[in-house]
Amino acid sequence: MYLNFALKILLLSFICISVIGSGELRILTPEQLAQYEQDGFLVLEGFVNPKACDALRKRALKLVDDFDPSSISEIFTTRHQGKAKDSYFLSSANKICFFFEEEAFLPDGTLRQAKELSINKMGHAMHDLDPIFDFFSRTQKIENLVTDLGLNHPLLMQSMYIFKQPFIGGEVTCHQDGTFLYTEPDSSIGLWIALEDATLLNGCLWAIPGGHVIPLKKRFFKTEDGGTKFETYDTTPWDLTKMVPLEVPKGSLIVLHSRVPHMSYANRSSKSRHAYTLHIIDRSSVYPADNWLQRAEDFPAKGF
Ligand code: FE2
Repeated sequence: MYLNFALKILLLSFICISVIGSGELRILTPEQLAQYEQDGFLVLEGFVNPKACDALRKRALKLVDDFDPSSISEIFTTRHQGKAKDSYFLSSANKICFFFEEEAFLPDGTLRQAKELSINKMGHAMHDLDPIFDFFSRTQKIENLVTDLGLNHPLLMQSMYIFKQPFIGGEVTCHQDGTFLYTEPDSSIGLWIALEDATLLNGCLWAIPGGHVIPLKKRFFKTEDGGTKFETYDTTPWDLTKMVPLEVPKGSLIVLHSRVPHMSYANRSSKSRHAYTLHIIDRSSVYPADNWLQRAEDFPAKGF
């Protein structure tokens, strides 16, 4: 009996040493890592506790509650406001900014539905500026995950809270995240966390398995006159027939390679599809000065 117990402890110690003591994988199995390398994405169901999902949702709604839409609605409703829109977007690297759904406004400039049902997303420094999002984003579990994925010196660059509102949640067209967060060598990793069930009806993610093996097709960067623009390297259209839906339950985390093509369709259902995303790079990579996301000198990006 005692021997049996001791054997179990010894066996357990051996397993711990073989997994952690080797300095290799801490969160992922070799099979999961191989799957990620093959597909360019990886679904981890149950990564986040449902109560943590609820806490983030509650906090996001409080931030929206405190936000006065009249302060920025003109940027989103007035035509020919490209510069103002660009400037607001670029400033969001160092703030928590609010972005409306495209269909949020009626022709007279008023909101079609309540404020909390009109915002497309918040970003892009929530993980540094809000204590709840900071606490959630800097867990040992997330750090271990990105270390498993090859980031030896992880740096949290941006965070977004995406609402995918009922009825008007806009489509996100097919793209590679590296277009917006470019490093040399390629190092950025996206973590997409479902705070509610994501289904075909409410606009789940879609991705092309293995689509990350091609180079970046486009790059988005800031211009010297304070605007933004795309540079296109490959005009071949994405083959959307290769997309597979990633329907996931609340609490799932989807890892996205910086070059994997992914998208989501519009949400015309009556259910929202809240998600929280983080983008993390390796500190040792080169981060170009013309990337759109530039942190202020006195507010540098930090790790875990
Ligand atoms: Fe993306």
